[in-house]
Amino acid sequence: MGATTTTDQAADSTTAIVPAAEADLPTIGMDGPIDDDEIRARMNAIAAEHWIARTPVGYVILRYDDVLAILRDKRWHNAAAKAAELAGITDPDYLAEAEGSVSILSAEGDVHMRLRRLVAKSFSPRSADRLRPFMRDVVNGLIDEVAPAGRADIVTDICEPYPIPIICELLGAPKEDWKLFSKWAEDVLRIFNGTAADELDMIRAAQRDLDEYTRAMIAKRRDDPRDDLLTDLIAAEEAGDRLSTDELVMMVNAVIVGGTDTTRNQLGCAVAVFAEHPEQWRLLAEHPKIAPRAVEEVMRHSGAIRGTGRFASEEIEYRGLRFAPGTMVMPSLALGNRDDAAFEAPATFDITKEPAEQPHLTFGSGIHYCLGASLARAELQEALPLLARRMPDLEIDGEVTWKPSTTAIFGPARLPVTFTPH
Ligand code: HEM
Repeated sequence: MGATTTTDQAADSTTAIVPAAEADLPTIGMDGPIDDDEIRARMNAIAAEHWIARTPVGYVILRYDDVLAILRDKRWHNAAAKAAELAGITDPDYLAEAEGSVSILSAEGDVHMRLRRLVAKSFSPRSADRLRPFMRDVVNGLIDEVAPAGRADIVTDICEPYPIPIICELLGAPKEDWKLFSKWAEDVLRIFNGTAADELDMIRAAQRDLDEYTRAMIAKRRDDPRDDLLTDLIAAEEAGDRLSTDELVMMVNAVIVGGTDTTRNQLGCAVAVFAEHPEQWRLLAEHPKIAPRAVEEVMRHSGAIRGTGRFASEEIEYRGLRFAPGTMVMPSLALGNRDDAAFEAPATFDITKEPAEQPHLTFGSGIHYCLGASLARAELQEALPLLARRMPDLEIDGEVTWKPSTTAIFGPARLPVTFTPH
């Protein structure tokens, strides 16, 4: 992929280890307001020549193999642990609280391994499959609302409302509380916005209310077990070990943080790319069995999570570079997914091609690999063929706008369409 450059020579050498801070690396600046397309074009051009580039907040990792290697290297810790700090929050009470609470998203080592071991079964493909009929009901209900008009904004009418009922059903929260959950999820997720420091009161209030609600729900389930995730998590046991109430509350929080905005944006990205490939949309409508393959190709080609963050927990040497403890790196899942050393014709969207041997990166990799991947896959595999069948001639009708490419979870902000309802 591209000619060998100074960076690659230094990086591939086993003799000369260069401190990353002093290495001759390409730089992606944040110099002034350049638009998203320009940032993307610059990143693509650099990725064709280099595996790493410097930015003002750390190093961006540009190729599939390197993204995978870093995500699988346990010395690189999840930057979710630093989300509040990175958002510019300085409130000492909040920072102390965040520091003191364990979350599966940011835990590492034995603490993380124990949590994953305890909860893994509750997030199995079989558990996700239980919800498939419910998912179809939700999607059909959402399409029913817009069908008479034959037009919709896919983002506000379908993607936004879709995941909340699923998460509520998963947890066992009643329908009358869907709206509450939706609001809490929205506010809790503000921690990942650039404006989190100004919205701290709102974020904390939502976290407090959700926490209180979850504790009440846990107390109820302890007395009255049901067929839902919360009951499974309460019962989850490994060699006599169980989740504490605080850990159960944290898991519910992680499911809401990890499972709402991700799914809705991924669905938006999917419909947007299918709208540009109407023949593949029709194929999906006629052959819903290809949905699993279609979902993997959508997630590779147009993933909603474009990158993640890691920081060096100790001094790390990799490809000839020495990273000091605390150094931030940002493995680019989107660029890894478009690496032509890993995928054939990666810029082409084609749901009929043989799946690649290696997975796409949109669910991450290594110990933090998406816990909700089976659920997310099921949600997309149910929603997409149904949408294709009921909106077979879907066409863009107006301007499609996108969230800024710097947002943690990327997708369309507006996706207006017309269709003949079926
Ligand atoms: C299409 C939708 C989704 C995408 C693209 C996605 C993507 C990801 C990615 C990339 C990670 C790893 C982040 C990192 O390593 O820094 C992750 C972790 C996680 N996801 Fe998802 N996710 C999706 C849906 C879900 C759903 C539905 C749930 C909840 C049931 C969920 C729960 C989680 C949790 C709890 C983690 C943390 C796992 C850990 O750190 O051990 N995700 N997800």
